[in-house]
Amino acid sequence: MATDVHRPVTPAVPAPAAVRVEGLTRTFDGRPVIDGLRLDVRPGEFVALLGRSGCGKSTLLRVLAGLDRDIEGTVLVPRRKAVAFQAPRLMPWKRVWRNVVLGLPGRPDRAVAERALAEVGLGHRSQAWPKTLSGGEAQRASLARALVREPDLLLLDEPFGALDALTRVTAQRLVAELWQRRGCAVLLVTHDVEEAVLLADRVLVMDEGVIAHEQLVDLDRPRDIADPRFAALRASLLERLGVDAHTALAA
Ligand SMILES: Nc1ncnc2c1ncn2[C@@H]1O[C@H](COP(=O)(O)OP(=O)(O)O)[C@@H](O)[C@H]1O
Ligand SMILES: [Mg+2]
Repeated sequence: MATDVHRPVTPAVPAPAAVRVEGLTRTFDGRPVIDGLRLDVRPGEFVALLGRSGCGKSTLLRVLAGLDRDIEGTVLVPRRKAVAFQAPRLMPWKRVWRNVVLGLPGRPDRAVAERALAEVGLGHRSQAWPKTLSGGEAQRASLARALVREPDLLLLDEPFGALDALTRVTAQRLVAELWQRRGCAVLLVTHDVEEAVLLADRVLVMDEGVIAHEQLVDLDRPRDIADPRFAALRASLLERLGVDAHTALAA
């Protein structure tokens, strides 16, 4: 057949994806919070997700994490994935290292926990009880717990939201370092436009149940917030969020 003759010798292979979501809908009490959403993330890509409070960011993250399966549509994610939430969610009755390996198959392996803790600068706290950790330390323990899963996809839901400004900067640097070292794809939910532009390859804005806007961040790393191009990207995203808020109010 003519179609066979013209078929290329090497068929075009679609680029591999770490995340492929199509037609995703999640409804609560008859109201679609996610409504036909489409999202692709490349392996190793760092994507930040912005959007007004209540627009469905955490719902999307929970779906990608496999914590919510009451959905319609297609969701393809790597088998190895891990999630860290705004609250570190450490079990107070288990020492830090045991928290890190909690839920992993097999016997709790202290060496594995301590390697991950060292990677987040918390090697010296492995024997500590969670209540003795500072906010920043607890958040790092939560990151270590994600890292021991050796994720191809790291899902972060406002992980720095509860930290003070200085600790936040340290934690942002740490995530940037871990991402560069590990090479995993990251989807970071944040309400902080500056944080998104500082860390991500691509910034998405969620609104009305879909990805309403996307912005590539084509700036060298480490990024300089004093760079006029940084300021321009931040301003354009802020405007985008402002416009979205206005639209939402008018609706
Ligand atoms: N388990 C649930 N039951 C009912 N409504 C929910 C549930 N989880 C989330 N929602 C609703 O879905 C919307 C999006 O929530 P969420 O994804 O947490 O928003 P965001 O993380 O963007 O602030 C909100 O209106 C919230 O009340
Ligand atoms: Mg949320």
